[in-house]
Amino acid sequence: MSDKPSPVKYQAVNFSEKLSLFSEQWAPKVIAQMNDYQIKIVKIEGDFSWHQHAHTDEAFIVLEGRLRLDFRGGCVHLAAGEMYVVPKGVEHKPFAAKEVKMLLIEPQGVLNTGDLEQSELTAINDVWI
Ligand code: NI
Repeated sequence: MSDKPSPVKYQAVNFSEKLSLFSEQWAPKVIAQMNDYQIKIVKIEGDFSWHQHAHTDEAFIVLEGRLRLDFRGGCVHLAAGEMYVVPKGVEHKPFAAKEVKMLLIEPQGVLNTGDLEQSELTAINDVWI
């Protein structure tokens, strides 16, 4: 042990604990950052807007519930413990019949509505929890 102050927190990031801190849906919260990438936690329910991210892939990791990712040519169903990476430039639309709790991994600064103009669905970015 050293007396030197350290910016390192010797504490695990616990998904359940983070999920218990908020109830709003479609509002991703940052729980960690790795280089230029952020790991976000989010609750969603219902339908979203079609959008794409021209400059980045987007990873979805389901923690609870069943997520459907719609694409123009098909869809992917994700259960808890499953993930999918949407390639950049591919139009997609998340859908959850019941609430889904999941992680998103994407570069810092990416908006949840991608290429769409700001809408009521556009979440405030870079909110840490
Ligand atoms: Ni997206």
